[in-house]
Amino acid sequence: MPKQDKNDNHVVIFDSTLRDAEQSPGASLKVSEKVEIAHQLARLGVDVIEAGYPRSSDVQFEAVHRISKEVEGPIIAGLARTVEKDIDAAAEALRPARRWRIHTFTSTSPVHMEYMLKMSPSEVLKKAVKAVRHARSLTEDVEFSGQDAPRSDVKFLYEIIQAVIEAGATTINIPDTVGYSTPEEFGRLIADLRQNVPGIDKVIISTHCHNDLGMATANSLAGVVNGARQIECTINGLGERAGNASLEEVVMAIETRKDILKCSTGIKTEELYRTSRLVSRLMGIEVQPNKAIVGANAFAHESGIHVDGLLKHRSTYEIMTPESVGVTKSKMVLGRHSGRHGLKARCEELGFELDEQQLQGIYEKFTELADKKKEVFDEDIIALIDDEITALPEMFHLDYLQCSSGTGTLPSATVRIVRGEQILQEAAWGDGPVDATYNAITKATGLKVELENYSIRAVTGSSEALGEAILRIRYEGKVFVGRGVSTDIIEASAKAYISALNHMMVRTNSGNTLGAK
Ligand code: KIV
Ligand code: ZN
Repeated sequence: MPKQDKNDNHVVIFDSTLRDAEQSPGASLKVSEKVEIAHQLARLGVDVIEAGYPRSSDVQFEAVHRISKEVEGPIIAGLARTVEKDIDAAAEALRPARRWRIHTFTSTSPVHMEYMLKMSPSEVLKKAVKAVRHARSLTEDVEFSGQDAPRSDVKFLYEIIQAVIEAGATTINIPDTVGYSTPEEFGRLIADLRQNVPGIDKVIISTHCHNDLGMATANSLAGVVNGARQIECTINGLGERAGNASLEEVVMAIETRKDILKCSTGIKTEELYRTSRLVSRLMGIEVQPNKAIVGANAFAHESGIHVDGLLKHRSTYEIMTPESVGVTKSKMVLGRHSGRHGLKARCEELGFELDEQQLQGIYEKFTELADKKKEVFDEDIIALIDDEITALPEMFHLDYLQCSSGTGTLPSATVRIVRGEQILQEAAWGDGPVDATYNAITKATGLKVELENYSIRAVTGSSEALGEAILRIRYEGKVFVGRGVSTDIIEASAKAYISALNHMMVRTNSGNTLGAK
């Protein structure tokens, strides 16, 4: 358990990337991807991982169960409505974990109770007490949330919180579900709860702030200043609508401004950047370049005056170092002649434990890359590792791609795709080379999907850098993410598209029925 003494200045970091962020449009993950993120969150040092909502689907249940079995360190939490069956499902999924928490929630604002729950306040209170009591009979660690707390009647909020504390809740979460509050108001709400709710001094008060007005980080910190000792947050600030308080922002604010915030977290800040990249890649949601802490421009200085100041003294324009959040300077690590042994050593230094088969796969990609590129950087190695360890059994394999485009020509592409024994070959035109390539893949595979989102970035700075394409496709209402890397950006785009199709085939178990040409 995190320290439960509320006078302590340790702020519990409760990560909801796998629950609240996973609810955001297009962000859904495979179970193995959730487990991979959970391992990285444990490496990052979060106190609590909210692994999912077990009763909501079999996939959610399995993900929470596997994370509970496999991920050591943090407390694993599962979400449940104030409904006995939800709580039982959460307990069953969580039981293998060494330390686990049931997080049960209802709504406390008049608008939610009247229109959504269709219950009177006294019914809501009764159900909440019963649920907390039941959860407490299963575990010592029970969190209670009243959705839309800032828009609730404060007297009712005091009443229900007092009642659930008496029923055994150990953490009381105050969600600003619709991101409506302001820092001053939210801070005052926390202070008022501490003043007016008997028994509140025995529990941890938590914040859960959404970012609809861009104030989630500020509101969470205002909560801490007024006595909250848990922050619920997500990597890259992902989550419903405009997202949640961003983990990297709240953590680095606490770290950088300890002089006024006077508290600390257990986060290993050097792991922030890597965690952000992993979540972005697996969810297929790019981080905006100017995003605080983890955006591509967060440590980039452009104007002459700034650069001049920095060269004279870093602290002129830098309030934290890139290294402190895990953004390291690009290092030339290996060349063509470095060999398998050198590659293995570098992968280990970068924190990756690879089995022999994975190492062999990465080595083959590395030698291919080293032939094309003069210098191979850490970022390149990480991209190759990502590519290898997230590779799926390939239903479709890109065997050949030829593409032509230029001023005054009609972009065209020819692809050859191997599917088992079948060779699928087609040519197509398009608005540009990527469009032509995607049209050719569609003709070859016979799979018509909707391309929802596409982005390409250079993994390192130079024009010969590896390009990484990330995209999302939609098929029959479900979203699938694909990613591809190559020094040729059209090839990276084709690989990303085919990897999304492979995800789709695996996840819909349609390997034998779809795209049969
Ligand atoms: O935003 C919210 O109110 C939630 C609750 C389930 C805590 O996510
Ligand atoms: Zn939420």
